[in-house]
Amino acid sequence: MGNYKYTSPDIGPRAQALIQRDKKVYFGAHTRSPEIPLVVDHGQGCMIYDVDGNEFLDFGAGYAVASTGHCHPEVVEAIQTQAERLLHLPGSDFFYELQTELAEKLANWAPGNFPKQVYFGSSGAEMVDSALKLAKYYTGRYKLISFFGAFHGRTFGGMTVCGSKYVQRAGFGPLVPEVYHTLYPYCYRCPLGKTYPDCKKGVETLEGIPLLPCVAFLNNEIFRRLINPYEVAALLVEPIQGEGGYIVPPPEFHPLLRAITSKYGIIYIVDDIQAGLGRSGRMFTTEHWGVAADVNIIAKGLASGIPIGAIIARSELMDPELDNHAWVPGSHGSTFGGNPIASIAALKTLELIHGKLMKNAREMGLYLMENLLELQNKHRIIGEVRGIGLMIGIEIVQDKISKTPFPENFTTDGKNIKSVIVGNAYKKGMIIFGCGFNSIRLSPPLIVNKAEADQCLRTLDEIFTEIESNL
Ligand SMILES: Cc1ncc(COP(=O)(O)O)c(C=O)c1O
Repeated sequence: MGNYKYTSPDIGPRAQALIQRDKKVYFGAHTRSPEIPLVVDHGQGCMIYDVDGNEFLDFGAGYAVASTGHCHPEVVEAIQTQAERLLHLPGSDFFYELQTELAEKLANWAPGNFPKQVYFGSSGAEMVDSALKLAKYYTGRYKLISFFGAFHGRTFGGMTVCGSKYVQRAGFGPLVPEVYHTLYPYCYRCPLGKTYPDCKKGVETLEGIPLLPCVAFLNNEIFRRLINPYEVAALLVEPIQGEGGYIVPPPEFHPLLRAITSKYGIIYIVDDIQAGLGRSGRMFTTEHWGVAADVNIIAKGLASGIPIGAIIARSELMDPELDNHAWVPGSHGSTFGGNPIASIAALKTLELIHGKLMKNAREMGLYLMENLLELQNKHRIIGEVRGIGLMIGIEIVQDKISKTPFPENFTTDGKNIKSVIVGNAYKKGMIIFGCGFNSIRLSPPLIVNKAEADQCLRTLDEIFTEIESNL
């Protein structure tokens, strides 16, 4: 155990009572932490209110889901109106205009000057499995590539392609066969010990793009020593790694992946579940790098909290009338996917994001980044601040020069540094989450304003000051 003294937050009486009740019936393997004993009463905008009358600034948005903030009045009104007309009919068997309109929007907005079709489901992981099934079916191949640090959800397919923390996979084997993990450009801690952009010097190029050593590892090592690239159905990648540490790749990364996958006929699938739909300041995150995926996966923020996910894929993959390799009726489907309530909530959410929230994400993201970089100069435990738009990670270190992380059991009762920061934020009325092994993520609703950003910055400044003075 470490030496740092830390006490978990106090819990109000109503919260305490509910937590006791809940403990008996809610599954024990949850990831709720004693550092955020939040028992919610209601939410509005960027604020959450608990059952004991406390209020919290929400810089987590329920893991990047409450994109338009909590209970945006226009989203609520749209849901209420729809609820009186139709709650459910399966979109895979019947037609309703809401779903068609939503598919049209997504197909038109997704990058790539080619026709696209959309399939709806109800969660991120379900969409990951759908995309992997689609790619296997279409290509007739069975191998899959994903990345160290990746998180793609909890289904068998999703879990197998994860590469973030072994606890997410352990105990469930054998997993889906023939999944190979390769290197993600985590430049702050380069897995090859290199430094960006020096790592580009003198390397070979692929379609005029310097072949980053981490991508060369896939192209020159994995594809020569382990697997025949022509047996690979899909490469699945997060545009920015989320759960793995809010890691933004250098600009060459996705164009290189696009070039490699095109070369070998591999389906390039981008899991935009966390970064997508305005959070990065663009509708689809690969727009930042001028890249079009064969399949985009979205979920989380799509309907402001109503469960829905979608894959948007090249039409020829999806439609047997266009290509006889495409999956056929009965190959795949879902009862709930894109149901009327989810579809109307998604249409309203997209209207708000496209109208002004995406711009706000860019502006507030820049504002937060500028100020966080100042905090980084001030605080010795901030190793790196990274992000695009309102997807910002802060990596915590013991020492900036050596980048030494804090030990896993940093406190006298064995907690890590992420728990200390998240718990202290909660005590000061702010909800944030950790990510990766040593990082904190900021992913507020896209409606966040300057006063709220300032409150977050002040709170973080206080937390870092207090921790440093107790080291
Ligand atoms: C990038 C990414 N993919 C997939 C998932 C899984 O989504 P869900 O929890 O909706 O199944 C997540 C969830 O955090 C995610 O961040």
